[in-house]
Amino acid sequence: MTIQHFSDARTMPSVPIHGDYLPTRVTALEKLFPDARIRLHAKLDQLQMSGSTKERTAKFLLDDLEASGALKPGGTVVESTSGNLGMALARQCTQRGFRFVAVVDERANEAALQTMAAFGARLERVPTPADGNRLRARVERVEALLAQHRDAVTTRQYGNPANPAAHASTTMPEMVASLGAAPDYLYVAMSTTGTALGCQQAIEREGWHTKLVGVDAEGSALFGGAVGERKLPGLGAGFETDLSADAHPHAVRRIRESDMIRGCRVLARREGILAGASTGAIVAAIARDLPTFEEDACVAFLVHDGGSAYLPTVYNDVWVRAEINGGAQALASLDRNDPFTAHP
Ligand SMILES: Cc1ncc(COP(=O)(O)O)c(C=O)c1O
Repeated sequence: MTIQHFSDARTMPSVPIHGDYLPTRVTALEKLFPDARIRLHAKLDQLQMSGSTKERTAKFLLDDLEASGALKPGGTVVESTSGNLGMALARQCTQRGFRFVAVVDERANEAALQTMAAFGARLERVPTPADGNRLRARVERVEALLAQHRDAVTTRQYGNPANPAAHASTTMPEMVASLGAAPDYLYVAMSTTGTALGCQQAIEREGWHTKLVGVDAEGSALFGGAVGERKLPGLGAGFETDLSADAHPHAVRRIRESDMIRGCRVLARREGILAGASTGAIVAAIARDLPTFEEDACVAFLVHDGGSAYLPTVYNDVWVRAEINGGAQALASLDRNDPFTAHP
């Protein structure tokens, strides 16, 4: 059995990864919802080089800028990021020989900021504006920087068709290839909506029957949502992004932060997958939808990022109790109702 592992590894040639994403595995999850009569699968994009699906997005955004001639050798890229795209862009820019300026806000995980800096990015920290709309404040700072530095370019993640193209040509086809067939349901979290839109484009292009469920945060403005305070980065947006105008998920699920945390904790304890808040939101959305699935339905989701950067927040009881509405109850409910996740 061990020998098999070695031989698998030996068949993988040494190739340069450079500024690129990795194809990732899909795993069957049998312990997350043991009583549900569904086939549940997760695509492990936390295994990307910078720890998130955004490695795919970054590659397509940078390839597009390079191909158009807008980004020349030694050039500077500016982008607003909640963390993951910033880490992926920082990594790929340094590898490709570009400078990168990351416009970030106070909600970004400290580990994400340190990672960007480690890759040589310059961080522009935008304070939370009076109206609380951090995303808009970041986008305005990007525009101000571009006006000051005429040779700098932006990847425009909120409206750039290269963003969904990454997922239409890699994420969704890989998912289907791993499963051997299109899933009945696909759950993805939304912020720019690039991932959802790209998966939707692949579904439409190939005529797959998959129902796409977009998972959003309570307090996000996407799809007519009411804007409210959000503490966790990754999913949700403070305005309706340009890309979202073309995204038409079969259903949108809005998830409270306390339920994202429960989703993350249960995924870690039952399946040994340490994921970020948006994946926890997906787990919560699937849990909510369990009664509606047909028997034996194939349900797939994306693990958008890993959980290490969320150890001080999502996985920290003190922080959850102090910062999250309903956080104490969420932790107590894990302990009370579920011996599997109970603390020893
Ligand atoms: C952890 C995580 N999950 C989900 C998303 C949403 O992806 P998209 O921007 O493609 O909608 C993001 C985007 O930043 C993210 O960082």
